[in-house]
Amino acid sequence: MSLRRSRNRLQTRRKFLKTTAAAIAGATLFDVEKLFAITSHVRLDVGPLTAASPDLVSYAKAIKAMQALPVADPLSWAYQAAIHGTTLSGSHVAWNTCQHGTIFFWSWHRMYLYWFERIIRKMSGNPNFALPYWNYESAGERNLPAPFRNSASSLYTVNRGVGWNAGTASLPSSAVATSGFMPTIPYYPAQSGCEGTPHATVHVTIGSWMGVISTAAQDPIFYLHHANIDRLWNLWLKQGGGRSDPLTDNTWKTTKWTFFDESGKEVHMTSCDVLRAAEQLDYVYQKEGKQATEYCPKVLPFPIWEVEAIQPLPAIKLPPGPDPVPFRVDISQFAQRLSAVRADQKQELALQLTGVEADRQPNVYWEVYVAPPGAEPNPESESWIGNVALFGHGIHDEHQHGEFQPAEFSFPIARALDAAAAKNAKEIQLTFVPRGALISAADAAQAERNESTLTVGKAEIVSRRLTTRQP
Ligand code: C2O
Repeated sequence: MSLRRSRNRLQTRRKFLKTTAAAIAGATLFDVEKLFAITSHVRLDVGPLTAASPDLVSYAKAIKAMQALPVADPLSWAYQAAIHGTTLSGSHVAWNTCQHGTIFFWSWHRMYLYWFERIIRKMSGNPNFALPYWNYESAGERNLPAPFRNSASSLYTVNRGVGWNAGTASLPSSAVATSGFMPTIPYYPAQSGCEGTPHATVHVTIGSWMGVISTAAQDPIFYLHHANIDRLWNLWLKQGGGRSDPLTDNTWKTTKWTFFDESGKEVHMTSCDVLRAAEQLDYVYQKEGKQATEYCPKVLPFPIWEVEAIQPLPAIKLPPGPDPVPFRVDISQFAQRLSAVRADQKQELALQLTGVEADRQPNVYWEVYVAPPGAEPNPESESWIGNVALFGHGIHDEHQHGEFQPAEFSFPIARALDAAAAKNAKEIQLTFVPRGALISAADAAQAERNESTLTVGKAEIVSRRLTTRQP
C-alpha cells in the first residue's frame, strides 16, 4: 500500500534535491531551508505556535470541513473520532478499535495519527500539514495551548474540565513526567509505563471528553497529546542500551489494523509498517534528531524482565476524597535486597500493583509515595515513585472490546528505599495522593469530584532482573 508510494516519494525527493543542487548553489541558505520545509513533514512543538501558524490554520480548517460531513463518511470528524471510541450506536468499519492496555498501544496510535494526518492534509488543502505535538513536559506548556481556547475556533470545545478553556488550569509536574518509563529497557513494560504517565494522567487531568475513552478523540487537542506520546516512543527507543521494538513477537508484527485513507478507502497496516516514522511514514518531530532504525525481520535476543515476588502487601482500596491512604512496611527486610540491587544494574526492586480497577473514571490520578512515615508528599523528591492513572483500560463502564482486563502498574522503589534508609527510617509508608489539574480556588468549588473507588487487587514488592528471550 502506501509504503511503496512513500518510499518512491522519498526517492523522488532525493533525486529532486540532487538535480536542483546546482540551481540551489546560487541561492541563499534560507531558500534551501524552505525547500526542505516543503519536502518533508515536520511535526512541530505547539508551544511557540499561534492561531495564525500554517499548521494550526490548516488543522482548524480541516476540522470544520470534517464536522460538516455525515457521520457515516469515514472522513467525517465523528467517524474519525469513533475509530478511537464512541458512544454512538451502530456498527461501522473500524469503530471502537483503539488499543489500551494491550501490546499495540504505541503502534496502533501511530497508525491512527498517520492516516488522520493525511486526511487533514486533504481536507485543509495543505499538503505540507503536519500535526503539532503538545510538549507539556516543558514547564512553559502546562496550560492548554492558547489557539485551542478560543471559542470562535474549531480547535475549541466546551467539553473540557474546569479552568482549561479559561487558561487557568494546568498540568501538575507529576502528570507530565517521562522519568518513570524512560529508563525501562523491555518494550512492553516501557510502553505500559508511558501509557500510564504521561498518557493517562494527561487525559484524566484535562477531564470531560478527554477523560473518557469513548469521547476523547472528539477534542482536537487529543491528536496533539498523542503526537507527543508518539514522539516519546522515538525518544525512548533512541536511548539504545538494549531497548528494542518487540520484533520477536509475531502477533505484534503481523496483526492488521484498519483505517481509511484521504480518499475514504479502507487501508490496512501492521506494526512493521510503522517502525521507522521518517522513512515509512514521511514525518519527523522537530528537534528529535536522528531516529533509531529498526527492521522487522530481526532475529536478536529480546530484553524481558524475570519477576520474583518478595513481599506481599495488603489489598488497597482508594476511596473518593482528598485523604492519602497510608500503610506501613518494615524496611529492614529489604536491606540485603537493596545492596544486591546496588551491586547489579540489571536488578531492581519494584512495587507491583495488579488487578487495578474502577467502576467509573475516578477523575483523578494517584501519586504513589514510598517514604518514612510523616514525610510530606513531594513529587520532586525521591519518595515519589510513579502514578496510578486509569484511562479506558481497567474501568468497567468504559470497557469496549474483548474481555475486561484490570490494569497493572509497577514502579521502581530502590531509590526511595535508599533515601529512607539514609534517614535511618525503620519503616516506610506507602501513600497514595489523589491529584487533578492545578486550578484556582474559585474553580475548585465547581470541579468534578472523584466519583469512583479504585481497587488494587494485589500489591506486592517484587525483585526483577533484566534477561533476554532468545528468538
Ligand atoms: Cu487511545 Cu490517549 O488514547
